[in-house]
Amino acid sequence: MAQPTRTTGQGLGAVTRGRLLFGGDYNPEQWPPETWPEDVRLMREAGVTIATVGVFSWATLEPRPGAREFGWLDTVMDLLHDAGIGVCLATPTASPPPWLGARHPETLPRDEHGSVVWYGSRNHFCASSPAYRDHARRITEDVARRYGSHPALRLWHVNNEYGTACWCDTTARHFRTWLRQRYGSLAALNEAWGTAFWSQRYDDWDEIIPPRRAQYLINPTQSLDFRRFTSDALLECFTAERDIVAAHSPHVPVTTNFMPLFAGLDGWRWAAEEDVVSVDVYPDPAVAHDDPAGPAHGALVQDLTRSQARGPWLLMEQAASAVNWRPVNRPKDPGQLRLWSLQAVARGADAVCFFQWRASRQGSEKFHSAMLPHAGEHSRAFRRVRELGADLAGLSEVAGTEVTADVAVLHDWHAWWASQQPGRPSAALDHARLLAAWHQALWEENLTCDLAHPEDDLSRYRVVVVPHLYLLTDASLDRLTAHVHGGGTLVCGFFTGVADADDRIREGGVDARLRRLLGLTRVEEWWPLGEGETVHLDDGTSASLWAEDLEPAETTETVAAYADGPLAGRPAVTRASAGRGAAWYVSTLPERPALRALLARAAHAAGVRPVLPGLPPGLEAVRRGQSLFLLNHRPEQVTVPLHHPHTDLLTGHVHAAEVTLDRHGVAVLTPTPTPPQKESRTCDEGVSSP
Ligand code: GAL
Repeated sequence: MAQPTRTTGQGLGAVTRGRLLFGGDYNPEQWPPETWPEDVRLMREAGVTIATVGVFSWATLEPRPGAREFGWLDTVMDLLHDAGIGVCLATPTASPPPWLGARHPETLPRDEHGSVVWYGSRNHFCASSPAYRDHARRITEDVARRYGSHPALRLWHVNNEYGTACWCDTTARHFRTWLRQRYGSLAALNEAWGTAFWSQRYDDWDEIIPPRRAQYLINPTQSLDFRRFTSDALLECFTAERDIVAAHSPHVPVTTNFMPLFAGLDGWRWAAEEDVVSVDVYPDPAVAHDDPAGPAHGALVQDLTRSQARGPWLLMEQAASAVNWRPVNRPKDPGQLRLWSLQAVARGADAVCFFQWRASRQGSEKFHSAMLPHAGEHSRAFRRVRELGADLAGLSEVAGTEVTADVAVLHDWHAWWASQQPGRPSAALDHARLLAAWHQALWEENLTCDLAHPEDDLSRYRVVVVPHLYLLTDASLDRLTAHVHGGGTLVCGFFTGVADADDRIREGGVDARLRRLLGLTRVEEWWPLGEGETVHLDDGTSASLWAEDLEPAETTETVAAYADGPLAGRPAVTRASAGRGAAWYVSTLPERPALRALLARAAHAAGVRPVLPGLPPGLEAVRRGQSLFLLNHRPEQVTVPLHHPHTDLLTGHVHAAEVTLDRHGVAVLTPTPTPPQKESRTCDEGVSSP
């Protein structure tokens, strides 16, 4: 799999300059200029170090074709610079002005039905449109030329949350070019797409169209290729703008902000094209405390982003409190903002930024929270923002440091896309939800994990976990085999290794190499379970969603068997030895505590230990560099014993024997140097020095 290929020579360090960044999207064009000095004063008060400017400014910068209105941005850049605040400057191309859509309707995307997606909102561009690309190139060029050497400029932010797909005729032509490059000949395409089925054979490239609204199920490989193509077409837009801004300021890194665990882009491929990886994270505050889905989702996105970045990354956007796009938008509890922000830092973030600085009074996001809320500078919400700024200022020694993991969770966008097709054994099977369920189990056990592409070199991990990868390429299968044969542990979830890169079912239903590794002679039949249906296993646990009729090899151990239902007595969870390693197969979705226990057992057998053993679920422990982050997501106070004195970087307090965390409490501990002792203890419990 592609490693990050880009480097400006300075990377993230050039942006952060040895501290954690704090700031947010700043949209001064929505406010009269008299507001700007007040913004800057309050930013300084809050400890803001970076402002993201210009994300949606195209119509202000270019009010009519070819016009340029840079005066306001000159003033804003200078104001920020004079206040010592760095600028993350956006290319404004995510939201073309109405004149572009009106004069060039071909720049507007069309949906699967062929309907135009109109302007009046944002993100209304067709990535394949030459007119869009041309206008985007020109405004980017002029912005880059004007501000490329501005002293406030720290980071380029290209576009915003790429993700618009289009099914128009221009896209169709572009798709054909992409397909020619992938397949070389129509015969190869027909073979890969299996067009002998339902009389779908193509005789001319021009007959091929994007998977538009059709009478019944669309060819799944056509749909899969269209997802691949759409990601690549958008990536061409990103790299074009990236290269323009880089040409004007070769030492300023470039990023684009990802949506969290977003299905529309191949996040591995995209990250490899960025200097710095950034993401927007919006966990739902309305989660019950016995169901920590909010922080667990945050941890998943953060681990994924750190893995994409292969090191520190930037939290480009989060909400100061409520968002405005859920059916019910609950504010964050006091304490949740700090807790979740420091969770991102614990998991590798070198910046904690927000959408947005000042709450809008007009437009579609006027009910979205902001660092500076409608209630103003004397509000409790703004006080919390200021306090967070102060906390981050005290954590400079964390900036740039790494999080290391012995466990890798495999994830691949192509497998996700292939698994999203209709016509499968169960529509309830959801790649992202399975990924989240398995990751949450590891998170609750405080087993730090990276995410990895299945074609990555996995040799640095002791345990590789595959929640669900319906599609596995030959190269991935080689990696998994090498991992286990070399002494690693594999824990593999159900309905994995079923299809090849063309979404063709592997011979035998599951790839033979994988079956050999897992010690399975055959997978006789898939046995999806109905909504709300559970099966019991003979270890006293229960499971849901899916079951399989397995035929294990003689030497394969049955870890747990189905205890009731049509598969009663058949193996549910198995373990086999292969080479020097071990491979577990989990043919169902165990209930949450059972999945946790299973992963903890497999990790333990592989010699992998949690960051701290014995912590209750929801008390999160992460090591980053020399610092141990303890984050309390539980509803009650928790006390953690310490076996050495530690200093809390947030408070400066030295904790000799224990640290108590209130609800939403956080401690960032580093070992306090102590005079040499006669005898040193190693401890199995509590906090030991990193
Ligand atoms: C992000 C977007 C921001 C803002 C925010 C609201 O997806 O990049 O511009 O819309 O959501 O939560």
